[in-house]
Amino acid sequence: MPMDIFSKCYGFKQAEEVRESGYYPYFIPIEENRGSRVVMKGREVIMIGSNNYLGLSMDPRVKEAAKKAVDRFGTSCSGSRLINGTFVLHVELENRLARFVGREAALVFTAGYLANLGSISAILGRKEHILSDRYNHASIVDGIMLSIGLTGGQVKLHRYHHNNPEHLEKTLAGLPADEAKLIVTDGVFSMEGDIARLPDLKKVADRYQARIYLDEAHALGVLGATGRGTEEHYGGDKFADLVMGTFSKSFGGIGGFVAGDPVVIDYIKHFSRPLIFTASMPPAMIGAVMATLEIIEKEPEHTHRLQQIARYMIKGFKDLGFQVGVAETPIIPLLIGNDEKTFMFWKALFDNGVYANPIVSPAVPPDRSLLRTSYMSIHTDSELDQVLEVCGREGKKLGII
Ligand SMILES: Cc1ncc(COP(=O)(O)O)c(C=O)c1O
Repeated sequence: MPMDIFSKCYGFKQAEEVRESGYYPYFIPIEENRGSRVVMKGREVIMIGSNNYLGLSMDPRVKEAAKKAVDRFGTSCSGSRLINGTFVLHVELENRLARFVGREAALVFTAGYLANLGSISAILGRKEHILSDRYNHASIVDGIMLSIGLTGGQVKLHRYHHNNPEHLEKTLAGLPADEAKLIVTDGVFSMEGDIARLPDLKKVADRYQARIYLDEAHALGVLGATGRGTEEHYGGDKFADLVMGTFSKSFGGIGGFVAGDPVVIDYIKHFSRPLIFTASMPPAMIGAVMATLEIIEKEPEHTHRLQQIARYMIKGFKDLGFQVGVAETPIIPLLIGNDEKTFMFWKALFDNGVYANPIVSPAVPPDRSLLRTSYMSIHTDSELDQVLEVCGREGKKLGII
């Protein structure tokens, strides 16, 4: 008898077992979004699991801009950017984004995931090398995998130790000098909230004539005096050759972009399958993101409040005795190191009115399971104190602190 392709699905029992135990933390529908609080399972909880860092997805100006764009262009582009799916809105947003990150050109994708998939796979070719931080986001990894698939295995992947330019240099030193190289790193790492050592990476890159691709998903609107991200955090030099960003975090939407030299952006436009073979970003979202971008540019106080909250919460958790790794942004991991305890802690917080994200292997190494907490500029001081109080009390009960 031939095997049924679905037999693995019928044999997959783990999720059901955890559901039955009452500790299943995934796919819980949000019944109402009240900004810093949401309603889940009929109860209001403080949301410390969102990447809506500046709280702008609920801003009335952003909602209004989305509606206006729908009135003018409808709900969908119904086509690829390459053919019928480019509206003047896409082009306007690209020009404004390029200016925001200090580059000459930008290209918008339908999701941040697709921006990484599409830019990395378009740029990498046969006998070329990609050097990737071990903690880089899955969309970077998948972009590399796509490039390996498209070149019949002729793109060479080298994973260097996390945030470790010394190990990067060692790796580069072992590669053929005449073959092209791209270094790829998150600006702010998505699980533990630490910041890439970008100036040191740049020095190494220059010594080996390698280019740098910087994923600013968690850095734009978050780092720097005006929210322009990791480069601004380090003084404003242009360390990266390509800057990628998403709209699903500070921009309160969905979509992504890559920015850089116009010739390189034009090349990506013509060789990126995840750009060409999917419909373009819908008008409502472009309208929303343009409004958000304007708010970020004109009202840096949201970014400043977020940075102040990050400092307050990092100190608060440290004072309570939590292990927060090298947290230095509004992504603050509470390191637990044990999957079962992580789920128990998640549930204890949820039962006490706080929602955070449990992160276990394979998203992090098996001994680094953690509760990922993240903050928004719209969190009030009293909400933050309530979070610290609940985490401290429940963390003590479970022996985490
Ligand atoms: C570092 C990083 N890059 C890219 C992405 C993908 O972005 P999006 O969710 O907007 O598709 C994410 C999303 O979690 C991310 O954390």
